[in-house]
Amino acid sequence: MSSTTEITEAHILPGGQDLDAAMAEGRHAHDVDRQHVFHSWSAQAQLKPMTVLAAQGSYLWDGEGTRLLDFSSQMVNTNIGHQHPKVVAAIAEQAAKLCTVAPAHINPARSEAARLIAERTPGDLNKVFFTNGGADAVEHAVRMARLHTGRYKVLSRYRSYHGGTDTAVNLTGDPRRWPNDYGNSGVVHFNGPFLYRSSFNAETEEQESQRALDYLDRLIQMEGPMSFAAIILESVPGTAGIMVPPPGYMAGVREICDRYGIVFIADEVMAGFGRTGKWFAIDHFDVVPDLMTFAKGVTSGYVPLGGVAINDAIAATFADRAYPGGLTYSGHPLATACAVATINAMEDEGMVTNAARIGEQVLGPGLRDLASRHPSVGEVRGLGVFWALDLVKNKQTREPLAPYGGSSPAMAAVLHECKAGGLLPFSNFNRIHAVPPCNVTDAEVAEGLRILDAALTVADGYTS
Ligand SMILES: Cc1ncc(COP(=O)(O)O)c(C=O)c1O
Repeated sequence: MSSTTEITEAHILPGGQDLDAAMAEGRHAHDVDRQHVFHSWSAQAQLKPMTVLAAQGSYLWDGEGTRLLDFSSQMVNTNIGHQHPKVVAAIAEQAAKLCTVAPAHINPARSEAARLIAERTPGDLNKVFFTNGGADAVEHAVRMARLHTGRYKVLSRYRSYHGGTDTAVNLTGDPRRWPNDYGNSGVVHFNGPFLYRSSFNAETEEQESQRALDYLDRLIQMEGPMSFAAIILESVPGTAGIMVPPPGYMAGVREICDRYGIVFIADEVMAGFGRTGKWFAIDHFDVVPDLMTFAKGVTSGYVPLGGVAINDAIAATFADRAYPGGLTYSGHPLATACAVATINAMEDEGMVTNAARIGEQVLGPGLRDLASRHPSVGEVRGLGVFWALDLVKNKQTREPLAPYGGSSPAMAAVLHECKAGGLLPFSNFNRIHAVPPCNVTDAEVAEGLRILDAALTVADGYTS
């Protein structure tokens, strides 16, 4: 089943639903949603949410039965595509065997998931504490760092996202923090490297890296080096714009952490599990963090799961002293069985290697070609299947096509054109992110690039 026409003729959606019946159910769901569902991050009365009836591989079908190429991977989490049969079967098998246990008990799915994760994380990140998702993974990583060091303050960069719960949103360096910020979280924000919109008047990656590190060091000295429990950094910031750190930066942060006894937390919630073409994005920089948070791709989002990978020193802190934190669903059997099947599917089908190849040979070059032909594309950046197009009104001034923290008619028109062409990208402010699953095919990427090409022509109409 590979095209809208075939689907419509057969009148059967992937998963076996009758198209007309699914559309009728979708219309009903839409009405009920508008009456009873309260959505994330939104003014409820202004929402026009899209209904999703079905999904398969790199595609999904909306409420009208239209097939869309999913270049968003939903929330950048369906790293193995939609409805992978082995993972769907593993969830069903685990459900038949044992749906739930209390977190204190051992269950084989959780043991195996922890083993597979520890096998892939760098250095001595040998223990895994499971959470329900990314934000609570971040909460617990910070709690562990505070208890381990006996210090309170945490450093986090502007242009970052770490989750929607209290500590996580206060760590976040984007406008979603502003209405949630009561100034009492002990978080100090700093500018990280981002050459295209440099805070350091840098002209080269080397300058950007060195100046960002010098500034971070000075900031720590002014704030009191002994007051910091942790620095948290997305290994490659995701929602904030996929800014791959320049050479030397992450190693420099590691050195600063070692110098001042600060715990280095790498947030791999979005960048981890193959997205950058390696199991973890931090692997691009040969750096071993002390704690690593993960979620999303660990189960391809099929069942909610997150966690913290913990190094030996921090694990030892809690060897004979109770860790004061826990969750009813820590290591839930359905979620961890899903993680085991997801990791095995990624391994068996070479998806991480595919993500790297797609980035180097297909998606990266294709997006750079679009940038060379469209005046609206200021910069293309990324790795693997993790790419951003920074859209601008003018290539010289680099004025964004939508303001920081806002939207614009130009961006709305571009996104409308993408959808009309059959493409669902991820978008944020003035950016379009091309973030398909790790097992996306060359032909699917070519299709996405063709649709983006047409949509960027619309964006070009807003440039001067
Ligand atoms: C880097 C990063 N950290 C944390 C989170 C929060 O994860 P969750 O939405 O699962 O709580 C996200 C979500 O997008 C993220 O991208």
